[in-house]
Amino acid sequence: MKQIIDHIVSTRNLTLEQLAGLMATEDQEVVGYLFHQSHQLAQRIYGNKIFIRGLIEISNHCKNDCLYCGIRRSRTDVHRYRLSKEDILQCCQQGYSLGFRTFVLQGGEDGWFTDERMCDIVAAIRQQFPDCAITLSLGERSRESYQRLFDAGANRYLLRHETADPKHYSRLHPDDMSYDNRMHCLHDLKEIGYQVGCGFMVGSPFQTVENLFQDLQFIRSFQPQMVGIGPFIPASGTPFADRPSGTVDATLRLLALIRLLHPQVLLPATTALGTLHPQGRELGILAGANVIMPNLSPAAQRADYSIYDNKLSTGSEAAETVNDTRYRLGKLGVEVPADRGDYPG
Ligand code: 5AD
Repeated sequence: MKQIIDHIVSTRNLTLEQLAGLMATEDQEVVGYLFHQSHQLAQRIYGNKIFIRGLIEISNHCKNDCLYCGIRRSRTDVHRYRLSKEDILQCCQQGYSLGFRTFVLQGGEDGWFTDERMCDIVAAIRQQFPDCAITLSLGERSRESYQRLFDAGANRYLLRHETADPKHYSRLHPDDMSYDNRMHCLHDLKEIGYQVGCGFMVGSPFQTVENLFQDLQFIRSFQPQMVGIGPFIPASGTPFADRPSGTVDATLRLLALIRLLHPQVLLPATTALGTLHPQGRELGILAGANVIMPNLSPAAQRADYSIYDNKLSTGSEAAETVNDTRYRLGKLGVEVPADRGDYPG
């Protein structure tokens, strides 16, 4: 099976059968080889640098009712909040002094954040922090809205495609959401000039290895600048509350494969991975991830952004402890610079 990995490295492609074999193998030498090749490739492209993004969760109001999500509209027991412009700028200020040069404004699809309000916030960050990248992760909006936010100073946009199989998509989402619109948004974002991130959950309900193959092929054809993946983790009060979590192991294998198929991608070791395993982030980096996204939200709101149960927002997931993270990752031989960490070229 090591030859298969070498073949994936040289062709940047794989077959469904090869994927199925690599996801199922219990040969730890093969898995170790996969992680090693992937980590080496990341280092060849990015040196020993791991980039940090400060994640600011601006609102947990959401008009959508995604079946997997802990802040879905129909959860009435969630304490809803939204941050003010001043709150957000204060988070950025704190992040800047900790060495963050990318701010990720993430939130549910909250109608309160109209284009006018959002552009005002983006423009203020752009003005106060001219050397920083602004990443938005606010779900599906119109092309015109994406354009206005870009013109106001946003550089990047994260919108996970969730699954590249339309039938699977419809089993994870209510009828008023569509795979086609999600794809439409992703293409609009790219055309406007954003650095775009797509991604999916590992082990989401009904997911098959064929679906994962479709996800990888989608990544190969779409060529996103970023890919976010993490294990599915059940959220109480949702239709999938009793489903099993995805695994750390499957997530690590897929991180490694994404790196091999799309070498330059900016690939975070996500909070969901850190939530399922105390060394999740370190393991992710050793499997080819090169980004971490500590939580920079005001401490009082962190617990309310509970897209799944037991979501970590303290300890090593907290932006305040980024200097401990620098020290701990230093022991893996990687450094965490105060850098925007743009996609190369
Ligand atoms: N488990 C893991 N990831 C989740 N997300 C939403 N709900 C869950 C869950 N229960 C992911 C989705 C979404 C991103 C913000 O978080 O992929 O796009």
